[in-house]
Amino acid sequence: MKRISIFLAILISLSSLVLRADEGMWIPMLLDRFNIDIMHREGCKLSAEDIYSINQASIKDAVMIFGGGCTAELISGEGLLITNHHCGYRSIQRHSSLGHDYLTDGFWAMSGEEELPNPGLKVTFLKRMEDVTEVVLSHLTPGISEEKRQEIVRQVSDSLAAATIKGTRYTAVVKPFYQGNQYFLFVQEVFEDVRLVGAPPSSIGKFGGDTDNWMWPRHTGDFSLFRIYAGENNIPAPYNPANKPYHPAKFLPVSLKGIHPGDFTIVMGYPGSTSEYVPSYHLKMLVEDLYPKLIAVRDKKLEILNAAAANDPAIRIKYAAKNASISNSWKRWKGEINGLNKLDAIGKKQKYEENILIWLYNHPEMQDKYGTLLARYKKLYPQYGQYLLARNMVIEVFFRYGAEVVGFARQFRTLENMASGAENASQTGKVIIRLKQALRRFYRDYSPAVDEQLFKVLLKTYEDNLDPAFYPPLLTMIRSKYHGNYGSYIHKIYRKTMFADSVKVIAFLNGFKGEQSIKKMKKDPVYQWVMSVDDIYSGKIVPEFEKMSKEKARLDRLYMQLQMTYDTSKVFYPDANFTMRVTYGKVKGYEPRDAVWYKYYTTLKGVIEKDNPQIYDYNVPEKLKVLYENKDYGRYAENGELHVCFIATNHTTGGNSGSPVLDAEGNLVGINFDRAWEGVMSDLMFNPGQCRNISLDIRYALFLIDKYAGAGYLLDEMNIVE
Ligand code: ARG
Ligand code: ASP
Repeated sequence: MKRISIFLAILISLSSLVLRADEGMWIPMLLDRFNIDIMHREGCKLSAEDIYSINQASIKDAVMIFGGGCTAELISGEGLLITNHHCGYRSIQRHSSLGHDYLTDGFWAMSGEEELPNPGLKVTFLKRMEDVTEVVLSHLTPGISEEKRQEIVRQVSDSLAAATIKGTRYTAVVKPFYQGNQYFLFVQEVFEDVRLVGAPPSSIGKFGGDTDNWMWPRHTGDFSLFRIYAGENNIPAPYNPANKPYHPAKFLPVSLKGIHPGDFTIVMGYPGSTSEYVPSYHLKMLVEDLYPKLIAVRDKKLEILNAAAANDPAIRIKYAAKNASISNSWKRWKGEINGLNKLDAIGKKQKYEENILIWLYNHPEMQDKYGTLLARYKKLYPQYGQYLLARNMVIEVFFRYGAEVVGFARQFRTLENMASGAENASQTGKVIIRLKQALRRFYRDYSPAVDEQLFKVLLKTYEDNLDPAFYPPLLTMIRSKYHGNYGSYIHKIYRKTMFADSVKVIAFLNGFKGEQSIKKMKKDPVYQWVMSVDDIYSGKIVPEFEKMSKEKARLDRLYMQLQMTYDTSKVFYPDANFTMRVTYGKVKGYEPRDAVWYKYYTTLKGVIEKDNPQIYDYNVPEKLKVLYENKDYGRYAENGELHVCFIATNHTTGGNSGSPVLDAEGNLVGINFDRAWEGVMSDLMFNPGQCRNISLDIRYALFLIDKYAGAGYLLDEMNIVE
């Protein structure tokens, strides 16, 4: 097919070009073709085969997906892995109770028997990847609708994956690259017996909390340790006390040598998602409309949650993870707006698009395919932006950490749908069991008083930020009566509803009598909001949004092709899509603003400087202070200082948390966990002067394991390079 050959030709022609050293998230299998030369020029001592190989053990065999959205790496031949504290947070939290609060106090297994199993936690290894573009595209005929295209791609991908793993213990998945211009198949091996080995207290692992989050200089000891267990013959098996530590093909040597300005670094891991190739309209939508409005909603949420937490420690604990999650993107959006404005990113994209238009004018043979592309984007984005905002606003206000009672009650729609269908009692019974499980999870971290406040305030925010066309019918009805003052109305709802009270909901489920109960449920004032929100959300917003998203997907695919055809002097790395990538860079400070230079590393001295027992996030543990006073750093110090974190120019994003940071020889020197404030717009536009990834210095982790926790026995299984 013509389309394939053009695309492959473009890719191949790129191999002769000179690449930059910092920007880019590269495909491990293609390092040999596109990257290894420049990597060597920048100081790398590894071969492409050392990093990714299917013929020999390589670094990729020591790096895996941790849970659903982080990266981890093996540091011993006994299945010991390291990731971030914030990646292990949920597991640590689940083992915590008032009696043994591991989140607050930390946890250290002093032997294998003390390691804690984590049902549901998995790690996923990449066995190999393969370019399947030709197979996938060969099933497509020109001119088919986007809907049909997506359906065929899904079918072909599924059957390719199924055929690949037939008769093996592996899993497989096909993922689109370059907005659906290229496809890769990934064969993976999943382990599900992963046990908690160690975690520092939050006052180290989450030091600085949401105040320091997304910022440099940073002093967070953001790491935790787990161990992978395998069944008979070193093969994955469900949790079993008799399982043995996994013996991997490869694990990473850990370096005590540290890193220094200008040193070459590799970060290898699973970046989740970026949007580097969008048109200016996309950035305009984010900067001028979507982000400011989402920030405004979360301002309100955080105001309420922070006040509630300050008044009541029990609330602080219940809402700790929710608060961190709300705050994390809220803060990043603000940083992205600043960063994009400072870069004049919209202006740069507009100029680029003007040049493309001129180029198209001079290349009439391209007109047919790409001539109206930018004009179609221009027309699509205002509408698309409206629907994207409406969709996100419903989710923010009603479904996820907003007026949570509505999102929770929405799960009962399954019951409603079943009762009206021909399902039998046993199926209904299963749904009821599932709802009871959901209920336990929900109420554990829930306060009706806080939720009521959120509902009251967020309803007004919803009204203020969206066009009336997107109001749920109930909102339209009550608006004129309450004039935006919803306090008394919402209060009445919480007095009447069963959904704010677990006892009532359990009683309802225990006494469930089909149609009769559903009729009663439909009279519940919260459930009326569920139905009303769904009216507008499932009835209008989602279907329209999906239609526009398909159109956008088609334009995005064409625009990617157009950019690669237009700009042959540039090497295009594919946007992140939660597949394994390699990024390389250099250890380097930066100038955040005029006259200020940020050094590339922080030390324990800085932890002590931030110490403030009055502030939860800055309350340094006594034992750490004593180690500092005595300068008891052992072999982990450098010139009498204990390094804590460092920055480099590696291009990373969400999902890269927990990724290994390797030196030129492939030794582990750090654990990636964040990015610096002035550069968080790197998901949309990279600025080599300002974009820095933040990593934990591995020596700080070793110091904490050894000197702070007294779990030095763990270092014996590592391969430590001095
Ligand atoms: N900003 C980092 C990332 O996006 C760390 C988030 C966890 N820490 C926090 N304080 N919320 O994952
Ligand atoms: N903190 C992010 C993560 O958890 C990493 C980043 O966005 O830089 O993956």
